[in-house]
Amino acid sequence: MSLFERYRQIPPSALGRARHDALVGLMDAAVWGFWGLSDAFRRVSAPPERDRSIALTVLDRQVVAHDQDVVALTLGAADGTPLPAWHPGAHLDIHLPSGRIRQYSLCGNPEEPDTYRIAVRRIPDGGGGSVEVHDDLRVGATVTTNGPHNAFPLTVPGYGSPTQRFRFIAGGIGITPILPMLGCAERLGVDWSMLYAGRSRDSLPFLDEVAQYGDRIEIRTDDVHGLPTAAGLLGDCPDGTTVYSCGPAAMLTAIRGQLVGRDNVELHFERFAAAPVIDGEEFTVSIASTGATVCVGAEETLLSALKRADAYPPYSCQQGFCGTCRTTVLDGKVDHRDTLLTSPEREDGIMLVCVSRAQRDERLTLDL
Ligand code: FES
Repeated sequence: MSLFERYRQIPPSALGRARHDALVGLMDAAVWGFWGLSDAFRRVSAPPERDRSIALTVLDRQVVAHDQDVVALTLGAADGTPLPAWHPGAHLDIHLPSGRIRQYSLCGNPEEPDTYRIAVRRIPDGGGGSVEVHDDLRVGATVTTNGPHNAFPLTVPGYGSPTQRFRFIAGGIGITPILPMLGCAERLGVDWSMLYAGRSRDSLPFLDEVAQYGDRIEIRTDDVHGLPTAAGLLGDCPDGTTVYSCGPAAMLTAIRGQLVGRDNVELHFERFAAAPVIDGEEFTVSIASTGATVCVGAEETLLSALKRADAYPPYSCQQGFCGTCRTTVLDGKVDHRDTLLTSPEREDGIMLVCVSRAQRDERLTLDL
């Protein structure tokens, strides 16, 4: 691999910064310095809103778990143009034909500019998105997206991380963001190991694909080995390891607990779904359009309560970082628990109902 190719493989840092380059940094500082100085002498009109929506066609569809419950879709631009680039850990917000928006990790090869690949496990009693993907997205169907986003970026040992090796831990469909990370680690020659866990081999997607890595990937299933312990998940995890994990909440909680005090181990994880509510208190919301009131329990999210009352905004990540569920608050004080909204947005009465709540003794009125 040439030096340039090797450089191109390195993902941006976990903080979203571009790769370090002293000359580029100097030029960047000069340009931004000039821009800052000239700010006093110019009026900048707001740039026109740009429609970033990309129409994607389903080019291929494969069942990738023996239990038939996981389907992988290969998507290409409906107009045949190359797609925006992405790095391991990225996901797509897919706008389904029903209007639902769902997030799916990109699990294909970032080196292939013409296609994206996602994989979806069917969840019969979920919010309907996975069932729609399974039942309605046949080859030739069209969905839209605003392009890849990365909330789970890969920081590579020796290339932005002071660690020396990776430990990957995937639970079931949690393999999806991890698959492209394995390819990246291989291309960059970084030492890695992995544990892939699930209920049974039949439930594990992409077993054929991971077989190419041989015994570097340990496959562990509950029906044969019993439930894994945190120590078993982490395996041999010496200081200087970067752990990337995606899976169910219980698995991630066990790993986090096991790594408390291990300051020389980096942990990066992505959940399937919403984190449990911590320090929640019961409160009441009013729906402005109908006057209905909804009681939100101490341990449930506002979004869950709104769904129960059948009055809820579109949602996607349910973790406070995609912004899909933003809702205007007409009255009441909000306990903001997201990582996305800016102070001006909060001052304008916007909240993310998937994670944020009412402040103590407050009652909210929502513009729904
Ligand atoms: S659903 Fe993504 S921020 Fe609420």
